[in-house]
Amino acid sequence: MRLTIRIASIAVAALTCVGTAATTPVIGTAPMPVVVTRDGRSALMVDGAPYLLLGAQVNNSSSWPASLDAVWPAVTKLGANTVSAPIAWEQIEPVEGRFDFSFLDTLLGAAREHHVRLVLLWFATWKNNGPNYAPAWVKLDGKRFPRLTRADGKVLNSMSPHASATLEADKRAFVAFMRHLRDADAQRTAILVQVQNEPGTYGSPRDFGLDAQRLFERPVPAELRKLFNVTGSWSGAFGKDADEYFQAWSVAKYIGDIAAAGKQEYALPMYVNCALRDPFNPGKAGGYASGGPTDNVLGIYRAAAPAIDIVGPDIYIKESNKVARVIELYRKGGPLLVPEIGNDPVFARYFYDIVGNQALGIVPFGIDYTGYSNFPLGARDVNEAIDAFAVPYRLLAPMAREWAKLSYESRVWGAGEPDDHANRTLDLGRWTATLSFNEWQFGQKEWFPNVKDKPAWRPLSGGALLAELGPDEYLLAGQNVRVSFGVGSGRNANGLIYDFVEEGRYVAGKWTRIRLWNGDQTDYGLNLTEDARLLRVKLATY
Ligand code: DGJ
Repeated sequence: MRLTIRIASIAVAALTCVGTAATTPVIGTAPMPVVVTRDGRSALMVDGAPYLLLGAQVNNSSSWPASLDAVWPAVTKLGANTVSAPIAWEQIEPVEGRFDFSFLDTLLGAAREHHVRLVLLWFATWKNNGPNYAPAWVKLDGKRFPRLTRADGKVLNSMSPHASATLEADKRAFVAFMRHLRDADAQRTAILVQVQNEPGTYGSPRDFGLDAQRLFERPVPAELRKLFNVTGSWSGAFGKDADEYFQAWSVAKYIGDIAAAGKQEYALPMYVNCALRDPFNPGKAGGYASGGPTDNVLGIYRAAAPAIDIVGPDIYIKESNKVARVIELYRKGGPLLVPEIGNDPVFARYFYDIVGNQALGIVPFGIDYTGYSNFPLGARDVNEAIDAFAVPYRLLAPMAREWAKLSYESRVWGAGEPDDHANRTLDLGRWTATLSFNEWQFGQKEWFPNVKDKPAWRPLSGGALLAELGPDEYLLAGQNVRVSFGVGSGRNANGLIYDFVEEGRYVAGKWTRIRLWNGDQTDYGLNLTEDARLLRVKLATY
């Protein structure tokens, strides 16, 4: 009962805050999706309430009517509530000025039939560095739409962000797309738009073309003078970082202009995704995509592209210490959304780190049955990916709305199993929660020195989520993990005792008890197996 009341009050509170406002009249009465942030906590509001985006991104060439039949069974099996799919410039404007939105219409209709929302990915000037998704009349006309020039004069297969012809052409197409979407989607089936895909350029820190050079020699723009408290030229202000910052500013400004123009038509929340650099040993700009929203230029993106609501990391780095650092960096940089994560089963445990860090959503890449696999980056077989991600998805899907409200309004934590299987301790303030892996459900391993068949390490898959429901009361969800609570530091108590541990589920938004756990089920921590469970736990001291 208390939980229900609390959740209702969260919904009311969430509705009162202000996000990006629509600038033109929209069709229909359904509330516009919006990203809201208050006291450093964010939510993606869909239908007027916080939404946890449990996504599935289709393969790059699956945005065709004939491929969609291979998408829905995979999405359904995964249990995703949202599908991310490319809308390619070449597909909507194959001939300059003539637009074809038939695929978009088909996609909107099919998504509604399958009861999922959409994230639409604008593949245009940049799709992983290159202009391959730009129409032929753009990508084959290097004179009108110039590519980027390296310091030694070589021209790379990546567009110059300084060419107004390219910017205006991309913007016109994007505006037409957003206008069509506004008129075709009164239901708000589409909830987010990604502007470009992993922008930036490999092979050069910046554009050295004539126009670029002229701009580079001018003073740093006012926004950056203020942000960094500098004056003068790019080189004078930023020294060895000048080339990279200039490129980041130029690309971000270009993307921000397009996003702002699209929002004039239809103000859906918009984001950019990032091809990450190594968070510890990044190397040099150009080795990673220079001009993309890497962790060192997030401030520049915010200043240059205020129409962009979120900058999200695409997580294909497998090492757990690096993933933890990436999550920390991008969470600090604004609302956290992971618009792509590799579909190798080893990535599924990061669901707990990501969602436990207040993320608006997570989207594994390459979820469809078109027969393509991006192994060894991702899974060999898409079913392995679906099986791995389906466990946490099925755990959270029935309470995705409740979780999103708790995440926005209350406090949440989470962690996945690290590569070395070491314990992870979460600081809940008055309490601690230690996650350990590779445990039996009974006792401590050292009590049974003569038992040879110690629990064998499972593939890395453990993790847990916690949300504060009220004083000393938590929701716990997880798999392949033992969760042991402790009394927080500095507290004066003999020890911890459970007031209660209740297993349950959410039915139509209401917590429903299945049973109480006690005795063996609570004496050795709370042991969650591959059969993921949901518990409500109230802690006390004696
Ligand atoms: C990241 C890109 O954003 C995706 O579109 C895709 O190309 C993957 N890399 C690799 O499969």
